[in-house]
Amino acid sequence: MSSILGNSSKKISSDNSLLSAAVGIDDMAVYIPSLYLPLTGEFSRQRDIDPEKLTRGIGVERMAVPDAHEDAATMAAMSLLELMRRCDLQPGDIGKIYLGTESAVDEAKAMGTYVIGMLERVYGSGSFQGCSTVEFKSACIGTTLALESISYWVAAGEDERIGVVIATDVARYPLHSPGEYTQGAGSVSLLVKRDPRIAALEQIYGCFTRDENDFFRPLGCATATVNGKHSNQCYLDAMQGAFASYAAQAAQKGLIAPKRGECTTDWIEHLLFHIPYPRMVEYASAAILRQDWRNSRHWKNVEAEIGVEPEPQNYADLEKYQVDLAGYARSFARSRYFQQAYNAKVKDSAALSRQVGNIYTGSIYLGLASLLELRKVQAKERLCFGAYGSGCSALVFSARAMPGISSVPSRGLFERLERRREISLQEYELLHEGEGKESLNRPSEEFVLARIDHQGYRHYEYVR
Ligand code: COA
Repeated sequence: MSSILGNSSKKISSDNSLLSAAVGIDDMAVYIPSLYLPLTGEFSRQRDIDPEKLTRGIGVERMAVPDAHEDAATMAAMSLLELMRRCDLQPGDIGKIYLGTESAVDEAKAMGTYVIGMLERVYGSGSFQGCSTVEFKSACIGTTLALESISYWVAAGEDERIGVVIATDVARYPLHSPGEYTQGAGSVSLLVKRDPRIAALEQIYGCFTRDENDFFRPLGCATATVNGKHSNQCYLDAMQGAFASYAAQAAQKGLIAPKRGECTTDWIEHLLFHIPYPRMVEYASAAILRQDWRNSRHWKNVEAEIGVEPEPQNYADLEKYQVDLAGYARSFARSRYFQQAYNAKVKDSAALSRQVGNIYTGSIYLGLASLLELRKVQAKERLCFGAYGSGCSALVFSARAMPGISSVPSRGLFERLERRREISLQEYELLHEGEGKESLNRPSEEFVLARIDHQGYRHYEYVR
């Protein structure tokens, strides 16, 4: 492996103690609605946006759109059903279902109870009654907090059963807003158990939280209030804080022990970030690598390519310093040295997101699915996850790929996305505004929202 890519595999292989106590992700299933809107044709023309801005500046090509019979709960039930079928699970095998969402369908009732109700239409009434469920809300970081929590429950070993974490969301912004082309929808279900086949969590969590107004959805509002540019900055600040905390803990516990000239990311093969839109992971990795490389051997190469970073003590005018520093950050992000690391460690995680859009709390796990579908992860490699939730919070944690990873069957996700139905801008707008009452695709072998009764209770069915 070349020096820029790090060499953690060798370092990891000497530490078998972590592997023996492993708890982590054994398998995953992904559900994406079967309708999509292309962003480069009619959409970009009607919105008067240069298609290059969408495909290069933002990084999106297609947006997944839920059909009239779908909501966040049906999508969650679909990904869970697929996970159960893939892994031959029975309801009695599952002790807990922790569900992360910011697309709640009820202010009090846990979405997981609706999901269990749907699954019982397939597995039999009462089949999930011994399984507990709770909804985690913390914008896009909810599912990651659910994963952290459930992994401790599994590790405690007081219950033989496995845990399931579900992410499900419909990312929705007002029509014609700058958030519109970053929408998407989908659900990811993760099977969490001991001796996982895919990746063992290393149980170090670097956290950063502060009160922010970057993105929020007051009670009763169908779309979020988003201060877009501010949300980018909050994301970067929180990610840098959480990464510093992760690196310090990993060093203190001896998990990552950089030698002279090395840095934390030398010990990491794959960096996966929350993906509100693919370009954001490039911004995130530039911020993290610039921070991590500054005191390492990499910095010589950076300076050789783009010069010396501005330092505050050389400036009488603080504003001028900030302008120059921002310019330097842009040069860093465009540098060959950074781009090489970005292509090697980060870029592939956004492959599915380009075709799906934002799925909020599941998007970082859609990133994991991208790597798995592309067969990019080898046993013993370290994956470092950087989750972000507006409001705001970031959590950085790592996992190590397990020997069983190559035995987990592909989900055929890229092929499945090609089989979706393209819809027109008008069809999309009707669905977006809740005016498209008829399903565009006739439901088959799937859960549907059949009706909402006069009390607001939602009735779901399984259509064969
Ligand atoms: N061709 C190629 N690239 C173009 C372009 C063109 N014609 N026009 C613009 N771009 C580039 C810009 O230069 C910029 O890239 P850069 O950062 O490398 O300079 C990129 O496209 C984004 O364009 P910009 O105009 O800065 O952003 P925007 O107004 O489209 O807003 C968001 C982007 C993300 C702020 C907006 O979509 C949003 O509010 N999304 C919802 C909130 C969100 O996702 N937040 C993220 C953190 S959680």
